[in-house]
Amino acid sequence: MRLSDAEKAMLDGDAGPAKARAMDLLLRYGEALGADRLIEVSHVAGTWSSTTPFVQADLPEADDFDTIFSRFNLDSDITVETPRAVVPTCQLIHGIDTRNHAAQGFSDAQAALQRKSEHFFGSRGVQWCSTCTPYQVGHVPLKGQHVAWMESSAVVYANAVIGARTNVEGRESTGAASITGRIPYFGLHVPENRVATHRVDVEIPVRTMRDWGLLGYAVGSMVQEEIPVLCGIDALPRPEWLKHFGAAAASSGGVEMYHIPGVTPEAASADEALGGTAPRHVHRYGAAERRRAWDRLNGANTRDDVNFVMLGCPHNSSDQMWRIAELLEGRRVHGSVALWVHTPRQIRHLCDESGVTGTIERAGALVMSDSCPAINRMTPQGTQVIATDSCKQAHYLPAITGYQTWFGSLEDCIDAAITGRFRGSPE
Ligand code: F3S
Repeated sequence: MRLSDAEKAMLDGDAGPAKARAMDLLLRYGEALGADRLIEVSHVAGTWSSTTPFVQADLPEADDFDTIFSRFNLDSDITVETPRAVVPTCQLIHGIDTRNHAAQGFSDAQAALQRKSEHFFGSRGVQWCSTCTPYQVGHVPLKGQHVAWMESSAVVYANAVIGARTNVEGRESTGAASITGRIPYFGLHVPENRVATHRVDVEIPVRTMRDWGLLGYAVGSMVQEEIPVLCGIDALPRPEWLKHFGAAAASSGGVEMYHIPGVTPEAASADEALGGTAPRHVHRYGAAERRRAWDRLNGANTRDDVNFVMLGCPHNSSDQMWRIAELLEGRRVHGSVALWVHTPRQIRHLCDESGVTGTIERAGALVMSDSCPAINRMTPQGTQVIATDSCKQAHYLPAITGYQTWFGSLEDCIDAAITGRFRGSPE
């Protein structure tokens, strides 16, 4: 790989041992990918948390944060001092909500360790956003900027909705990127790799979050890891709907980029999205395809006696939190149901100040941050049947937990939380 003088100096250790190791990691990574150079990044979103069960199981000295950073963020057996991040860097979702850790099944000691790690990495420049939706809480690049982000739903949002450029990175590459400001130039950093390959003709109205989730789930199945351009969208979606669309498409397939002419910023027409070439495949999305997506998510479920409802995958926006509070106002969650509502901690703070948390929690629910059941594998005690308004969570939870999981609208899920029965339908 060709390196600039500044990059060579970092590799040679002129900027300290950690950056030398980070450059070595990025070179090995870039060469394996066939990249011929590095590119400067404006933002990094990765993970520095040390208290997930995975890390604890592997490392007895779980509060030796320099060793954790060296091993897990730099792939280095030698411990080096953790330097400050050189570009805006944020922590994505991790495992523990330190306010609700007991309900999640974590000990006080684990929560205290989590807080200690937050202070340590915070002092090294890592902003503790603690969410899979950093773009909802101020970590927002501009169109055309190169970034290094982890987390599939965040990556597809960054590429398609914001127009920033990133591949799905890992813990090591984001760790190295945060202290060098570099990432290998390949994949979706390269303009030619961002054009659509598949066209999807949407033939039915798509008007709600449930509609957009089902559309994303169907499109991911159709195109897998390719780039679709959606034609026929006749009404502007809300940001939350695109958030759900991308998360679903990245779950049933591996979609990291898409175009919707008139909605997403990189192409004003299908022809421009396709780079002036014919699509390799044309798919249609009508009532039958929508129904198929619903059946794929819900068709194997045999029990409707829900005892856990999860809302907020990807993490809820402030608008979504207000809506949930509205639906729960003056109502009571069923005695045999746990309702967990997930949102970034910054939005939870806003909800605390505005009385939204109080409304939701008076109904008997918990407002959770920093985590989700698919990541920490923690569900309320006694969980057997789950309901969620997220295709992504409904896709992963049965495999991760072994529990039947219903996908439905937000209203269906609130109804399940109040009645203890899932009564949703695709219409
Ligand atoms: Fe976020 Fe967890 Fe869903 S990481 S996108 S809430 S599976």
